[in-house]
Amino acid sequence: MEDKFEKKSPLFSILFVCLGNICRSPAAEGIMKYQLELNGLADKVFVDSAGIGSWHVGDLPDARMRIHGSRRGYDFTSRARQIRRTDFDRFNLIIVMDSDNYEDVCSLARNEDDRAKVHMMTEYLNRYKGRHSVPDPYYGGDAGFELVLDLLEDGCANLVRLLQKSHIV
Ligand code: 4NP
Repeated sequence: MEDKFEKKSPLFSILFVCLGNICRSPAAEGIMKYQLELNGLADKVFVDSAGIGSWHVGDLPDARMRIHGSRRGYDFTSRARQIRRTDFDRFNLIIVMDSDNYEDVCSLARNEDDRAKVHMMTEYLNRYKGRHSVPDPYYGGDAGFELVLDLLEDGCANLVRLLQKSHIV
């Protein structure tokens, strides 16, 4: 008998993580989903996002992030949640935005396998290679939000190419 779950279950899963899960990581989630869709890979990769902190649990992305995203054609509508240890079981790859996120997520890792799943978004940059973080835009102005989107579009496009090149999808 056909196993529908097996057929539907994604090949690969990616969790984007930032501090609050209302600016950078929900934008990364939306952009990655959009780019996977463009490449006909939407059903092959499961994408989600989470925050280190719990302050904004249940919230939509920050209004500024939504406005800047909508000007580029994105609709960021995820609801914030906090990362949990079981995410290490559910996700193949956990991508963080800055070195503080990296330390915080690694501190939740239970073993070396968990830790090996944690990567910086900057590892996937192409045009913006050399940057060391996707900087937190929360306390800044418009330029910070635009920079986040530029970096995430670059990194996600490259990540899709890498998944294809490594025959992961
Ligand atoms: P994010 O930005 O980590 O990109 O979602 C932030 C959002 C909220 C706060 C900090 C950063 N906060 O302190 O509430």
